[in-house]
This record gives sequence, C-alpha cells and structure tokens, in this order.
Amino acid sequence: MKKILVTGGLGFIGSHTVVELINNKYDVVIIDNLSNSNIDVLNKLETITGRKISFYQEDVSNKEALRKIFAQEKINGVIHFAGYKAVGESVSKPLMYYRNNIDSTLSLLEVMEEYECYNLIFSSSATVYGNPKSLPIKEDFSLSTTNPYGTTKLFIEHILNDVYISNNKWNITILRYFNPIGAHKSGLIGENPRDIPNNLMPYIMKVATKELDELKVFGNDYHTSDGTGVRDYIHVVDLAYGHVLALKNSISGVKIYNLGTGKGTSVLELLHTFERVNGVKIPYRIVERRPGDIDACFASCDKAFKELGFKAKHNIEEMCLDAYNFIKKNTN
Ligand code: UFG
Repeated sequence: MKKILVTGGLGFIGSHTVVELINNKYDVVIIDNLSNSNIDVLNKLETITGRKISFYQEDVSNKEALRKIFAQEKINGVIHFAGYKAVGESVSKPLMYYRNNIDSTLSLLEVMEEYECYNLIFSSSATVYGNPKSLPIKEDFSLSTTNPYGTTKLFIEHILNDVYISNNKWNITILRYFNPIGAHKSGLIGENPRDIPNNLMPYIMKVATKELDELKVFGNDYHTSDGTGVRDYIHVVDLAYGHVLALKNSISGVKIYNLGTGKGTSVLELLHTFERVNGVKIPYRIVERRPGDIDACFASCDKAFKELGFKAKHNIEEMCLDAYNFIKKNTN
C-alpha cells in the first residue's frame, strides 16, 4: 500500500497524519473543502516534509470529484478524517451534521468500491462510549452517544461493519481517539480554531496569548481527585503515528482500537502544567458544569499495543510545550 488519500488532510489531526505518512514513505493525496481548515497548511506541510503534495479542494460528498481523484491518482488506501466535529453545534444543527458526516462517508465508500480500493481507516472518537460504566475504557464496552456529532461517528461505525459483511475484501480499521492536543515540534501546524474554542486546550492557548481573558472551568464537583473533569490527552503526533501503524497492520475485517495514553488528567492539572512548563499565567474561574460532560474518560491502550505496537511517547508537559510553541508562532 503506497498511495494514501487523506480526507480532511489539512485539519488538525489530518495534517499531522500527513507528516507521519510522508516520514514513513507513503505518497499522500489530500482532499479537503477548507470548511474548517486553511490552505496555508498545505505550504506548511510541504515545508515540513520537503515534498510537493497533491491537493484537491473538493467536498468528499462530491462523487464526481472523488471519481476523478481515484482515476487520476490510483489510490491504494484512504484515511477518512473529513467531517464536522463540534459537539455543541451538532446539538443545534443535527441535520447539518447527519447530512455532512454520513453523506460524505457514503460517497467515499461507494467510490472506493467502484475503484476496488478496500483499505480504509476511519477517524472515530471516544465519544461513542457515552458515559462509561468503568475505567479504563476497553474497545468492547457498550456504545451510546449523547449528541448528534457522536451519533454520526457511531452510525458510521455500524455502516462500516455492514459494508464488510457485504464484501470481505474490505480492510477497515476504526480508530477511537481520546483527546488529541499539542502540535508538531516545528510550530508550523497545530490547532487554531477560527471562533471561540469549544475544547479545553485551544481555549487555554487563547488565554495564554491574551486573545481571551480567562478560562471557564466547567464544574469542580465531579467525582475526580480535584473535582474537575478528567480526560485522556494524547499528543497529536503520537495519534498521527497510530494511523501509520494501523495502515501497516491492516488486514481483512473491521478492527477497532482506542488511541489514547491510558492516563487521566484533570482540567486543573492540565492548566497548571501548562502554566509551569511555559512560564505563563492562565487566569481561570470555576463555573457551572457543561451539559453532557462526564466525570472521567481514559483509555485502555492494551489492544492497540498488542496488535499494532502502539504506545504514546509524549507526556503532558511536552503536549503543553508544543501547543504553546505553535500558538505563539501563529498569533499576531
Ligand atoms: N473544559 C473546561 N472549560 C472549557 C472547555 C473544556 O473546563 O472551556 C473541560 C470540560 O468540562 C472537560 C475537559 O475540559 O472536563 C475536556 O473538554 P473538551 O471539550 O476539551 O473535550 P471533551 O472530552 O469534552 O470532548 C472531546 C472532543 C469530542 C470527542 C471527545 C472524545 O471535543 O469531539 O473529546 O473523548 F468526542
């Protein structure tokens, strides 16, 4: 498997995965409609990798555009990141989420079948575990969702299972991400949302650069060590490398892996680590809980380690250093 189509390849996780793929001698073709990404990322990817990268500014739901790419590029495998991903927005605009995330995946799968390309890695999320009954979360835990975004991920997982049942030529890997943060060491690519960030680390980054005044910590009465929510933060470069391992190990079937570190970190732990390693102050205030949030969520990483050899290398300190390095270089 040599040539990989990366949908959403200019996004946060997609762009870091492109770098790891090229570092591991894959040829990469990117399709991205720029709805939540920036064309500058393409130049930055070319700077980091020293390679010219094929890029198509198209929507993945556009089958004609996909056919042209498959015909022209002779794609061997696909990593499918493209999709809307804001939890809150999905609650207010469910139809937009179902239309976009499901439609684009169906188009992609149909065109892949037409071109007999049966290698797929799908970008899923720990959100499919809902509120887990125990920790750490294993891949065989029961699944449920609390918002339309999460439901699109879960529906797509079901669709992929059915597709494999219909034709066992498919090699499908579903990767359930925990909370990716950090940035590439170069500081050229990272996460920089256009609007007010929904997620914790992008918010902390904007407080650090004084674009926002203070972090609102959503609740300190959770059943955790300091009362604030606990999550499994994973460096985006480790997560990206997980896709390379998934490609190298892809076999017939539908394989599912958690990609996390197995370690939980609370909101205040992350905030204070960020302050300490970067020498900055992050003013914060405790406010009400955010609806839908759970106490704690972290992965069991045993399956990904045993079957893929996956193990995250970066710690929370490095995640905070790299995130700040990126935002400093990319803020006026
Ligand atoms: N938090 C704050 N203040 C903020 C933002 C977040 O206190 O401004 C807290 C949350 O309450 C939570 C923690 O920080 O305890 C992490 O919140 P994020 O929004 O960064 O991440 P979530 O775990 O809620 O959700 C993320 C992605 C989802 C994905 C999920 C997978 O946003 O898409 O991880 O576990 F599904």
